[in-house]
Amino acid sequence: MWPYPRILSHRGGGTLAPENTFAGLRRGMDYGFRAVEFDVMLARDGVPVVIHDPYLGRTVTGAGHVFDYDALELARMDAGSWFGADYRGEPVPLFVEFAQYCKAHGIWMNIEIKPARGFDAETGEAVARITRAMFAGELAAGDLARVPLLSSFSLAALEAAQRAAPDLPRACLMSELPPGWEPLARSVGAVAIHTNHKHLTPELAQAVIDAGFGLFCYTVNEPVRAAELLEWGVDAFCTDRVDLIGPEFGQQRGQQRR
Ligand code: G3P
Ligand code: MG
Repeated sequence: MWPYPRILSHRGGGTLAPENTFAGLRRGMDYGFRAVEFDVMLARDGVPVVIHDPYLGRTVTGAGHVFDYDALELARMDAGSWFGADYRGEPVPLFVEFAQYCKAHGIWMNIEIKPARGFDAETGEAVARITRAMFAGELAAGDLARVPLLSSFSLAALEAAQRAAPDLPRACLMSELPPGWEPLARSVGAVAIHTNHKHLTPELAQAVIDAGFGLFCYTVNEPVRAAELLEWGVDAFCTDRVDLIGPEFGQQRGQQRR
């Protein structure tokens, strides 16, 4: 059973705004999205920030690695100019502030733990501990559909998240399902498999479904493909094209399996 929203904006507002920023989040909201995927990494001081790359330069003006700077230094940097002059000065969000904003606005979160190399366990632990504290009330009340889903390509990060917050749900990110994907996912107590739709087949989708996992795909930007994936039984996906694929996509056509 997938208790969460089925269509998520990817990295905030997809490709219509600078990724992993408040501006992106608001752009997704403009299109009606109330569910988001974003990436979280540790700054030098161990404080998590919302960013995809482990280095500056592509989306943040500057040079060096994310772990060369404290979180408040990153928060004063410019994560918007690369996208357009209108976004100049858009900050790198602190994870806590970003997640609190989502929570306050009823936006469900798929939080991707994105450790810089060598920081897997620290990142998984920090993200899980902070998220657990933020959603302690929902967990106690059994209001699990509101609780974020943590995902990562890093098994070490997921293991650390499991130790820090065993009651937070986790998902295994696997670009392509390797042989033995099922025991791998079970080893970290994953409730879902998140995979690149480009490598998914109907047979693999069915195997994941039959094994009892939720099935989530990234990053689906074409409506025809999105409809096909839903026909295969995919539970949910994230999209960069929040303008083409809305939050209610597929619902009128009965394309979801459960
Ligand atoms: O979480 C799904 C997707 O975001 C994984 O790839 O590189 O966009 O973080 P990436
Ligand atoms: Mg991601």
